[in-house]
Amino acid sequence: MKQDLLGLKGMSADNIKNILDTAKTMKLILAQPNKKTPHLQGRTVVNLFYENSTRTRMSFELAAKYMSANAANITASGSSVQKGETLIDTAKTLNAMGTDILVMRHSMSGAPNVIAPLVSASVINAGDGMNEHPTQALLDMLTMYEHLGSFESFNGLKVAIIGDAYHSRVVRSNIYGLNTMGADVHVAGPATLMPQQIEELGVTVTSDVDSAIKDADVVMGLRIQLERQKKGLFPSVREYHRFFGINEDRLALAKKGALLMHPGPVNRGVELSSSVIDGEQSVIDEQVTSGVAIRMAVMYLLSRGGLN
Ligand code: CP
Repeated sequence: MKQDLLGLKGMSADNIKNILDTAKTMKLILAQPNKKTPHLQGRTVVNLFYENSTRTRMSFELAAKYMSANAANITASGSSVQKGETLIDTAKTLNAMGTDILVMRHSMSGAPNVIAPLVSASVINAGDGMNEHPTQALLDMLTMYEHLGSFESFNGLKVAIIGDAYHSRVVRSNIYGLNTMGADVHVAGPATLMPQQIEELGVTVTSDVDSAIKDADVVMGLRIQLERQKKGLFPSVREYHRFFGINEDRLALAKKGALLMHPGPVNRGVELSSSVIDGEQSVIDEQVTSGVAIRMAVMYLLSRGGLN
């Protein structure tokens, strides 16, 4: 039976560990001058993106190509979606072309869950509305794992996630994954950008960014999603940076050597100051490399029925 990756909600710790360990092996391949492997030889991967993307789309495409798959991309703006074709008909059309893995990004929460039962291809959620972005959280955890050195170190790890949690699919997938791994997740930001009942997901919530960051092992900024926002959720980007932005003074409240993370793209000078983005504690570029490795691992495991 085919497998899909729709979210991290409900994924077991053993499954997460298996993906992270597989991705660590993939990183060894990425470090070679010759990155070609036969893992997906003959398979076809299609990236169907209804929203803009640099990191996710390109890393899925490169991951597929590194593993010798046939890789193709389609965006809503350049497709028959513009002529009124529905998401379901578009997905079924791509499936009928022999797609083995369909990577989907869509603005509607739950869109991949609708498509997965309708196609024979394995569906990977590359971000659905404000719901989940599972491969992002996996790459974030891979980056942490490589710095921590063991899965045991996730136990009690203080992770402070700062910013626009309301619109963020990244925060939800990270909460599900990190909680499963035993981390202590704190979420901070303006009250107007906090989802209702987010505490019920098992996190500590505050509008006091300093208290969230204090003694944290990992500090993760979230992008202010201006494209999804109604007006008036915060006064101005300048005010936002003053009260909620992560700068050197705020980062100094975290543990010495704490990791600074951000899923990207960053609004420089808003969520993070340039000095911390380009500073010694930043692992933002490592996250990008981890993204290729995680997508290789996920597609490899899916193709063998070994994801869960
Ligand atoms: N982090 C992330 O999903 O980035 P992109 O939108 O560039 O893919």
